[in-house]
Amino acid sequence: MKFDNETSIIQQKIANGYAGVSRRLAIVNALNLETNETVIDIGCGGGHLVQEISLSIGEQGKVIGIDPSQDQLDVASDKCKDQSNVELICTTADEINIEDASCDKITATQTLEYIEDIDTSLKEIKRISKTNSKFVNVSILWDYFRFYGPEKEINDLIHEAFRAHCFHQMLPLDLNGKLKKLGYKNISSQNLSYLITNRDNNSPAIFYETMLSKFALSQGVSEDKVDDWKKQLNKSEKVGNFGFTSFPVLTAAYLG
Ligand SMILES: C[S@@+](CC[C@H](N)C(=O)[O-])C[C@H]1O[C@@H](n2cnc3c(N)ncnc32)[C@H](O)[C@@H]1O
Repeated sequence: MKFDNETSIIQQKIANGYAGVSRRLAIVNALNLETNETVIDIGCGGGHLVQEISLSIGEQGKVIGIDPSQDQLDVASDKCKDQSNVELICTTADEINIEDASCDKITATQTLEYIEDIDTSLKEIKRISKTNSKFVNVSILWDYFRFYGPEKEINDLIHEAFRAHCFHQMLPLDLNGKLKKLGYKNISSQNLSYLITNRDNNSPAIFYETMLSKFALSQGVSEDKVDDWKKQLNKSEKVGNFGFTSFPVLTAAYLG
């Protein structure tokens, strides 16, 4: 999926709301930030986490956000305009133009699953990491990312179309082995799953509904079917059998 202007706006709404705030809280706790550290956020998007890290590491610390989407970086740049310890680089995770062994903490949120050749990116992440540095990743178990309420046939159609939106549907299950192979130690997984039963204007469910609808249309699903799915979601909320589940996993590890 390309994080162009329209998709970026939806993604930033998700980051602003409950889904984004709760996972950033878990990430900041896991990072255990200290002043003067150099921290990098891979696929920083609109810079929500970059800003929070920036405020935690003091003026002598440094936070680097990288992202290949200039639309995302423009928003990040505006958000962090008053913070002197932030550097934003427009690049991909397989080619990070910073020195070897320069980062104390490395983090990525819902980014690695979008990278086809993830092994090259993980090697590049290892290259820029100091010995004993901490790596914290959050990725979603997409098989458990699900709307409930509409009839099975139409619901399956929309979810099946969405599978093409990223390369690695169940990355948290593969990541531990990949990190172990690269020499990481003390690898742990934390369940950040949640259930939402309302579709108010600030609910992640409503933003993901928009994202899935847009993506289904791009995959050739007809407008009639997408509209029908949305109507059924609306109806299910009214009768009280609507649900939306997501299963992010926080993976933490130390580079031995
Ligand atoms: C779902 S967004 C997450 C953004 C942010 N981490 C957050 O949680 O709000 C995924 C981000 O990964 C970025 N991305 C896609 N491919 C990438 C790559 N190869 N290297 C680094 N970032 C990438 C996208 O541009 C997008 O901003």
